[in-house]
Amino acid sequence: MAYKIAIIVGSLREGSINRKVARSICGLRDDNLDCSMVEIGDLPPYNQDLDGDPPEQWSRFRQQVGSADGVLFCSPEYNRGIPGVLKNAIDVGSRPYGQSVFDKKPAAIVTASPGSIGGFGANHQIRQACVFLNMPVMQQPEAYLGHVSDDSFDDSGCLKDGPLKDLVSVLAHAFHDWVDMIHRSRRLLAEDSAHAAMARQADKAHA
Ligand SMILES: Cc1cc2nc3c(=O)[nH]c(=O)nc-3n(C[C@H](O)[C@H](O)[C@H](O)COP(=O)(O)O)c2cc1C
Repeated sequence: MAYKIAIIVGSLREGSINRKVARSICGLRDDNLDCSMVEIGDLPPYNQDLDGDPPEQWSRFRQQVGSADGVLFCSPEYNRGIPGVLKNAIDVGSRPYGQSVFDKKPAAIVTASPGSIGGFGANHQIRQACVFLNMPVMQQPEAYLGHVSDDSFDDSGCLKDGPLKDLVSVLAHAFHDWVDMIHRSRRLLAEDSAHAAMARQADKAHA
């Protein structure tokens, strides 16, 4: 079964290296990950006053993320932190209070940069938000992709063969396994609870 993955890219740039990395991850696991890019560039800035009558862009975003089995964040780092558009999208999806579309969704966080530390700061700020959002985030492999540039991709935007593609391939497989493990264990727990409830009913009937 292919899992539905909402991909949220923290860059609005047409030639974004993070968008290309996201596409490569999907391409490497297209048998098991059914990926869709969720656009965030049109989301009006979050304003709690609008929760009663939300802009249609917020509703569209919440519906797209809410219907996914998992979320993949691919983002640049801006000034050692989360790009504003991505933080806004996270805030929009997290509200109204108690109705977060991120709740319990398995996630992975990938940051790519031409710099040498691969967006480590942004990566951990996203991770910090995921803690509050109650999202189980894949721990390993960590994905601070440094020294990524247009040269890392071929003319069609796919990663060229080499260590970066190898790492992204490992990431793509690990992410599928992570999403699969979370959903399978939840199904097993639900089955266990159902069996336990049936057993209690049977005990009562015989008492
Ligand atoms: C406003 C701004 C701030 C940036 N700050 C950082 C930074 O803190 N760390 C870093 O590694 N690169 C930084 N960069 C460079 C980005 O990593 C680089 O532009 C990258 O290509 C952006 O990702 P994208 O190609 O997915 O748009 C910054 C770029 C911009 C435009």
